[in-house]
Amino acid sequence: MGAAMGIPIISYLIDPALKVQSSEAWIPLGSLEGFPVGSPKAFSFTRSNINGWEKTVNSYGGFILVKSGGDILALSNRCTHLSCSVNWDEGREEYVCPCHDAQFDIEGEVNAGPPPHALDQFETKVEEGNLFVHFPAVKAHEG
Ligand code: FES
Repeated sequence: MGAAMGIPIISYLIDPALKVQSSEAWIPLGSLEGFPVGSPKAFSFTRSNINGWEKTVNSYGGFILVKSGGDILALSNRCTHLSCSVNWDEGREEYVCPCHDAQFDIEGEVNAGPPPHALDQFETKVEEGNLFVHFPAVKAHEG
C-alpha cells in the first residue's frame, strides 16, 4: 500500500525531467494587410524549449514577401552557410549575409557566395485575414 501511494509522488517529481515541449507551432504575425506587396518585410519571434528543468529561449526571424499575384513567401533569415542573419538590401534587391558576403535573390535562391542551398522557408497560412508561419522552417533543399 505504501509503495502504491509513493508511485504518483515519484512520478510527479520525475515527470518534469522527462517532459520535452513540442516546438512545432503556428506563429501569428498579424494582419496580412500589414505586409506590402512586392517588398520583403522582416518578422521575428521567440520560441522556448523546455527539456526537464532546462529552459532555453531562441529567437527566429525571416522575411515575408507578398507577391503581386497574392502568393506568400516566408523565408528564414538564417544564412544556409553558417547561420548568420541575412538582411534585405532594398537598393541591390537581394538578401545579403554580412559574414562571408553571400547574396540571395528575392525568392531566397543563392546568387553568390558559399551557401550550399537557398534560404529555408516557413509554411504559411491566412486565417480571417491574419498571417501565420509554421515553426520550424522547412529546409529548402528537402523535397
Ligand atoms: S554565414 Fe552567410 S555566407 Fe557564411
